[in-house]
Amino acid sequence: MKYFIGNWKMFGIPKSISILKKINSFYSIDKNRNKYKVIFTPPFTLLESYSQFFKKKYLSIGSQNCYQKDQFSSNTAAISSYMIKKVGAEYTLIGHSDNRAEGDTDVILKDKIKFALKNNLKVVFCIGENKLEKRKNKTFRVLKKQLKKALERKFNKKKIIVAYEPIWSIGTGRTPKAKELNKTIKFIKKVLKNIFKQNSPAVLYGGSVDEVNVKKFKEIDEIDGFLIGGASKSSKKFIDIIKNYYR
Ligand code: 13P
Repeated sequence: MKYFIGNWKMFGIPKSISILKKINSFYSIDKNRNKYKVIFTPPFTLLESYSQFFKKKYLSIGSQNCYQKDQFSSNTAAISSYMIKKVGAEYTLIGHSDNRAEGDTDVILKDKIKFALKNNLKVVFCIGENKLEKRKNKTFRVLKKQLKKALERKFNKKKIIVAYEPIWSIGTGRTPKAKELNKTIKFIKKVLKNIFKQNSPAVLYGGSVDEVNVKKFKEIDEIDGFLIGGASKSSKKFIDIIKNYYR
């Protein structure tokens, strides 16, 4: 199964649902439909209405983050996996570099994953090195640490997807070379196999994915899909990414 996940970040108001309706219309009649899943992560403000609208449709909805506690707590503005699940969402991103930059540590992220799984959300766990780490050849060391510190063998790996998003590639138009990306994804899968003592969960790539460079990425068998930021705000671009991937 391949995944095309659109992360809207701080974008969207109620009527922006028209973008997702167009994507869902394409998805529901696409001849390749059974080969992939389409998931969108709108902001918290839209989670309930969008989740309810797409409940019996093909497209799935998830949140962009969740709080590291179960059910309810006294943390102002915090939103738990329990609350996310109860409004109908099915997925949550965890560990996006934006949230790591705001203070999410490996310990916090592990709790987030634990409570998300407990509340029956599927987790898209994001990892990635920054520019300096890459320049210093520390990429593998950083990725291994991010995976080992937050994931545990006892977690249900069927409910976990890993998204590799090099920070230097997010929103910059810069992407890794195909050969290099292939090696990195293989390395991530090796680490995941080691953690779970069985097959690796799906590993996606994210960072400046668009309808043009997806043609380069599709040559890399190891990639199980994409986490798409900027290009997911346009129904045409998002649909073209899927079309070009299967062309
Ligand atoms: P861009 O596709 O805009 O580079 O964003 C990637 C991302 O951070 C998705 O989570």
